[in-house]
Amino acid sequence: MLFTGQAIKASLLPSGFACVMFDLDESSVNKFDQLTLRELGEAIASVESSAARGVVFASAKSTFIVGADITEFGGLFSQGEDEIREWLVQANKVFNAIEDLSVPSVAAINGAALGGGFELALSADFRVAASTAIVGFPEINLGILPGFGGTVRLPRTSGLQAAVDWISSGKHRSAAQALEVAAVDMIVDEGLIESAERILEEALAGDRDVEAIRSRKKQAVSVADDERAVFFEKAKLAVARASGKDYPAAVTAVAAMEKGVACDRADALKAEHDGFIELAAGECAANLVQMFLNDQFLAGKARAIAKGAEPVAKAAVLGAGIMGGGIAYQSALRGTPIVMKDIAQSGLDLGLAEAKKLLAKQVKRGKLSEQKSQAILGLIDSSLDYEKVKSAGLVVEAVVENEAVKKSVLAELEALVPETTVIATNTSTISIDSLADALSNPERFCGMHFFNPVPLMPLVEVIRGAQTSPETVASTVAYARALGKTPIVVNNCPGFLVNRILFPYFGAFSTLLNEGADFRQIDRVMEEFGWPMGPAYLLDVVGIDTAVHAQAVMAEGFERMQLPFESAIDKLFAQGDLGQKSGRGFYSYSADENGRPQRSANPEIDAVIASCSQASREFSDEEIRERLLLALCLETVRCLEEGIVDSAIEADMGLILGLGFPRFRGGALRYVDQVGCKDFCELAKRYERLGAMFAPPQSLLDLASSGAKFYA
Ligand SMILES: NC(=O)c1ccc[n+]([C@@H]2O[C@H](COP(=O)([O-])OP(=O)(O)OC[C@H]3O[C@@H](n4cnc5c(N)ncnc54)[C@H](O)[C@@H]3O)[C@@H](O)[C@H]2O)c1
Repeated sequence: MLFTGQAIKASLLPSGFACVMFDLDESSVNKFDQLTLRELGEAIASVESSAARGVVFASAKSTFIVGADITEFGGLFSQGEDEIREWLVQANKVFNAIEDLSVPSVAAINGAALGGGFELALSADFRVAASTAIVGFPEINLGILPGFGGTVRLPRTSGLQAAVDWISSGKHRSAAQALEVAAVDMIVDEGLIESAERILEEALAGDRDVEAIRSRKKQAVSVADDERAVFFEKAKLAVARASGKDYPAAVTAVAAMEKGVACDRADALKAEHDGFIELAAGECAANLVQMFLNDQFLAGKARAIAKGAEPVAKAAVLGAGIMGGGIAYQSALRGTPIVMKDIAQSGLDLGLAEAKKLLAKQVKRGKLSEQKSQAILGLIDSSLDYEKVKSAGLVVEAVVENEAVKKSVLAELEALVPETTVIATNTSTISIDSLADALSNPERFCGMHFFNPVPLMPLVEVIRGAQTSPETVASTVAYARALGKTPIVVNNCPGFLVNRILFPYFGAFSTLLNEGADFRQIDRVMEEFGWPMGPAYLLDVVGIDTAVHAQAVMAEGFERMQLPFESAIDKLFAQGDLGQKSGRGFYSYSADENGRPQRSANPEIDAVIASCSQASREFSDEEIRERLLLALCLETVRCLEEGIVDSAIEADMGLILGLGFPRFRGGALRYVDQVGCKDFCELAKRYERLGAMFAPPQSLLDLASSGAKFYA
């Protein structure tokens, strides 16, 4: 043995080559944590002082190296710029030492070589990959750029265009795609290590020119100055357009490459460090890293809740409308057969037509074969009676939003299905506990709240009623996971989690309009904050009728959500302007050639708003932002305080996945943390005159006085 560590072992192979084997103790994958980095430096030193004729980098796990240890990022990035630079400099010494080894080297990539894993491979002279391997630089998704020489080595190995495409997109690439741009030198189906040894023999025999490779990797990329300038100007524009103003990492990465390709390795690495530090010290990277941890937290929690639940072998959905059709499609797509029941043949026809349309789109995009699409469609069994519903393990009720209808449907269903069948409702506004009154066995009942459109929206709120059993929650969470959705379990209350928080936000919007604010300015301010659409546009998409109905439910549930005036939303509803669905709301809509609604100005809207508002007056962007975010964030705090949701992470992810709260901001509670709990309370007090919605809840006051945060 040349070196024995907890993450790496280096030994001499019978061929006389050293094998640096990555095999992190007590982990299913190799990753570049601090320990692995340190040991890599030590392993390289021991190999360098051995008699090895060449070096193979390999993995003893089923995959190569999946990247950095993201759990270490939070602590690392918050230490300050000097510490981040020092970490980068030390790490890059190791990668440079690999590139400068006195003997040739090759990376034997047996699986995923991502981020730091791929940077290690690029530091070696050669790369041989298993045909199933994937490589790439996903750093951009975390708001950072490759920091171990990726922006320096990829342009020199694979050319400027590939480097820009790969690094700015963050996408994984297949071994074949890597071979196309010389990011790997060879693909093999078996005998990876032997192939690596053969490459080293060829290098030693002079059949592969190691010196030429190394000198190319250490010098500036040979491209004329003006050509380079034109290329990067275009690249930066395209990347900026694709990533948007709120996600600076891709543009910063391209700018680092632009500087880096014009200089030698040392200066190119400096340009990379500068870009990395700029990003790592910013809020966007901190929030996106937290997002990664949040995703893992949610997945882990859902797995734990669903543990032991029998997988749903067959499901059923009652109501083949917008939601029922979407649920049936999603269930079939993910392989769980489903019976779709409606009272009207026309309903079933519509539901099936929707599923067919969605599948045809996938076939057209080349994501599904026609045969597979037919097989998926075959998993949807439509019916006008209950016979086939009886054998379903879980039934989702998605009939019209009417309490009396739902209660009678639920009671009818319960009388027909076995005791073990889980019954869930997709209601958006009716109390789970009230609906449970219709059942003789309410333990088997809970909410399963999907979002529209079902195939696109990742969140499912699983709502626990007062009598819902843990087994019912477990089965429903398991089914949501089987559908490829992210379930978040919440307790019953008006609006559940997501709508309960959305309506105070709409309330703050209506209040601003009532005081004479311009809805176009409000939409612009919130879109600039990062929302995909502002509140007026969102109301049009949700449906003005749906909003009026839900607002009434919320106002009945929470006195603070009552609005002491007739709002513009009420006016629009009264005159039948229901938003996108009727062609007119705050904006006007007409269908384009693909049937998609196109937005334009509604010439009547100012008169509608004026009829129920004070005279129009100027509001600063700041006041608009503060009032809307206060209403939304304070209600999120209340949900956490009351135990409607278990944790800050689940509350924030509910808003991000269910409402489109900007991901790069990390969620409502994360935003409060960033403003500071104390400052946020003070801000709330400034607006308390607007009503109880703006009063800071006790738990926030407590955090403010103790100096604590929602996120540790
Ligand atoms: N549309 C949304 O954005 C959305 C989002 C989340 C939740 N929801 C909820 O989902 C449910 C369905 O909403 P939708 O938008 O799909 O409504 P929809 O009006 O499009 O569809 C309702 C369907 O239920 C059928 N139906 C009525 N009575 C029935 C019965 N007794 N048995 C079987 N089928 C019956 C109708 O024929 C119709 O096809 C509602 O509770 C709604 O609040 C809707």
